[in-house]
Amino acid sequence: MNFSLKRSDFPPNFRFGTATSAYQIEGSRFGGCGESQWDVFAQTPGNVVRGENAAVACDHYHRWAEDFDLVKNAGLDSYRFSTSWARIMPQGRGQVNQAGLDFYDRLLDGLLARGISPWACLYHWELPAPLLDLGGWRNRDIAHWFADFAEVVMRRLGDRLDAAATFNEPWCIAWFSHFMGQHAPGVRDIRAAARAMHHILLAHGQATRVMRDLGMANLGVVLNFERALPADDSVECLQATQRYDGIYNRFFLGGVFKQAYPQDVLAGLEAHLPQNYQDDFAVIGEPVDWLGVNYYTCKRVTADNSGLFPGYGEQTGPLPKTTMGWEIYPEGLYHFLTWAHREYAPNLPIYVTENGLSADDRVVAGQIADPQRIAFIEQHLQAVLRAIAEGVPVQGYFIWSLLDNYEWALGYDKRFGLVHVDFDTLQRTPKQSWHAVRALLQDAS
Ligand code: FCB
Repeated sequence: MNFSLKRSDFPPNFRFGTATSAYQIEGSRFGGCGESQWDVFAQTPGNVVRGENAAVACDHYHRWAEDFDLVKNAGLDSYRFSTSWARIMPQGRGQVNQAGLDFYDRLLDGLLARGISPWACLYHWELPAPLLDLGGWRNRDIAHWFADFAEVVMRRLGDRLDAAATFNEPWCIAWFSHFMGQHAPGVRDIRAAARAMHHILLAHGQATRVMRDLGMANLGVVLNFERALPADDSVECLQATQRYDGIYNRFFLGGVFKQAYPQDVLAGLEAHLPQNYQDDFAVIGEPVDWLGVNYYTCKRVTADNSGLFPGYGEQTGPLPKTTMGWEIYPEGLYHFLTWAHREYAPNLPIYVTENGLSADDRVVAGQIADPQRIAFIEQHLQAVLRAIAEGVPVQGYFIWSLLDNYEWALGYDKRFGLVHVDFDTLQRTPKQSWHAVRALLQDAS
């Protein structure tokens, strides 16, 4: 099975890439990496399926050359990876683990040698455990600690990057991890969540300034979006959907691009934000050069009558679902690309920095048939093309992910890769979707 799209359906400079993250593939046991909040989180029973951790993961730490050959041979232009704070600064501050920096240095040179353009994201969730003891994202000082980390990384790598982002998915770092407690550090506390939301943005602004001062260009931030759809048309449900949309989709965009938080979110969170939080907007609003959009699904939002903010719940929707239980809703990607362009970032390139599907992929006679992944990517690329046709400057699309990997609290059996990984032998096998991407990108017609 192949895509019906062709490379020539896209603008000439449109870049196709794939994305990964450090903790999910590298192997945190190797190379003097410090303990991160994920190593800790995984040790607490009940947090991660089967108690799995990423001590070895895909062993990308040792196998990166083979992995980058797979990126190159697929014909992909760009590779988005992240740098682990715990690997580079095991204590979170002070002492630098040179082996960690050397590792990312090798990655960069390995990408460039293969003609792949490197996109780095500073933070994809490996908060060093010692910073947890200081309150982690709840502590305002983290903005300085993060800016110092950014400086250490970018003094070494910044000269060879095509693009850099500060954060991957602030909503997950703050709300999912400090309000819902689903990801490390597993906190359920509205005040912690509100402060984390604000401090992440402050850290984003400070680190962006640091990178500018180092002379770097093409700086952005990667936000995630989920299309919030009301489960019914009652007023309560519509209002609950608004609040869901506010927290998920408008809060972080508002901070960065409007230097303001949405009123419907402030109604519940303002009391928990730091005093005089408005004074930080000058830093938070530090200009960026592009916006990254991660998109996977929609949610059917219900109202709850607990009387407590945010007063919403979720219910299962009718559309076909991936093995994550996520409904497949490409229309949502079109929505966010056009809406973010219109309402927040009219002058900036937008990149789809993550999009992909998990499936129950199995090796049968050396082959992995994953037609549903090909169909998913095709439908979402169609959504991208629609947005482009309407004048939205979408300039690239990164598939999540190159490899099957450690899917956080869900462990190893949610397979998102273009390439299958056998987690016993660590053998890589390109799936049918990898071959289809290759055919798409080779087709010069
Ligand atoms: C995103 C994360 C990524 C991966 C995908 C499935 O939220 O950025 O690490 O877990 O979802």
